[in-house]
Amino acid sequence: MKEIPLVDLKAGFVPIKDEVMRAIEEVLQGMQLNIGPNCQALEREFAAYCGTKYAIGVASGTEAIQFGLLASGVREGDEVITSPHTFFATAEAIACIGARPVFADVDPVTYNIDPGALEKKVTKKTKAIIPIHMYGQTSDMGPITDIAARHGLAVIEDSCQAHGALYRDKKAGAIGSAGCFSFYFTKNLGCYGEGGMVTTNDEKIDEQVRLYRNHGHKSKFEHAVVGYNGRLDEIQAAILRIKLRRLDENNTKRREKAALYNSLLKDTPLVLPAEAKDRMHVYHLYVVRSEKRDALQDHLNKNGVGTGIHYKNPVHLQEAMAGLGYKKGDFPCIEKACQEILSLPIYPELTEESQVYIAEKIKEFYKQ
Ligand SMILES: Cc1ncc(COP(=O)(O)O)c(C=O)c1O
Repeated sequence: MKEIPLVDLKAGFVPIKDEVMRAIEEVLQGMQLNIGPNCQALEREFAAYCGTKYAIGVASGTEAIQFGLLASGVREGDEVITSPHTFFATAEAIACIGARPVFADVDPVTYNIDPGALEKKVTKKTKAIIPIHMYGQTSDMGPITDIAARHGLAVIEDSCQAHGALYRDKKAGAIGSAGCFSFYFTKNLGCYGEGGMVTTNDEKIDEQVRLYRNHGHKSKFEHAVVGYNGRLDEIQAAILRIKLRRLDENNTKRREKAALYNSLLKDTPLVLPAEAKDRMHVYHLYVVRSEKRDALQDHLNKNGVGTGIHYKNPVHLQEAMAGLGYKKGDFPCIEKACQEILSLPIYPELTEESQVYIAEKIKEFYKQ
């Protein structure tokens, strides 16, 4: 029996091992560890990659969202509209700064926030919108930025799953007021620990995020705001610079794997991921849909195929969010999807042979 993991980090390390080990050694010989030369260089390189004026390295994607919100002027009691279909951290970041997450249902095809549903949630207390670019495909940013402009709202893009994705000719993270990225190790651009980045074209946001990530330090002995210990680690920055140079090539490989799955699985009852016309999906995850999801997952796991569910429980139904007063049935579109979605293995090193095996096992399941 074959063993195919959902993500294969070891396979991704092999071709860059020597470069990574050299870079780590150089960092340790230089010992400039606090927002050091690699962090500063990565900020310039990532801003150039995304097409933004500024990029600020931070300690995680969660902190990127917190700092993006704070730097955009969101404060305690303000409302921030987002989707309940995300990793919990998006809503957590809103709640951690004392603001209130307000949810709106998703588009059933892309699983990203539905702009029509979003606009209905705008109130006098709304300060910002966080569209989440789920699975590697950007949200429908045209209508979202129009809504934001009409109501005077900040748009903080949760780009944690979408490094390099395009909406028309713009990269994820270069469309709203700020873009927030995670470098968690499974991401399309991931380090070997924790890390994150905020991108922006707004000088004020850049300046504020730099304060918030570093205890509000304005100068050595001056603290302008109460901030955080939220800096990007220098060793991770050195690793990320190596991996950033390969991001486009690896995203192209992910797109090729997705195209192969699409053709191998087209005659099965599965609902396959759809790429909207004006977007370039970077397939952080390849998510199919099946009414028999749990049995299919079981069958694949028994045959050595690693799978995942991203995510099983929408955020509005999480115990930690009970105080917000949402209940089952509030967002039928995403609640149904959460029972049916299944992530298949996808990563640049996934072989054609493995994909053919996975497709065979899926077909075998439906023949039973
Ligand atoms: C959509 C989304 N938002 C936020 C985060 C939080 O990022 P981090 O784990 O780096 O804090 C993640 C990462 O897992 C994510 O996938």
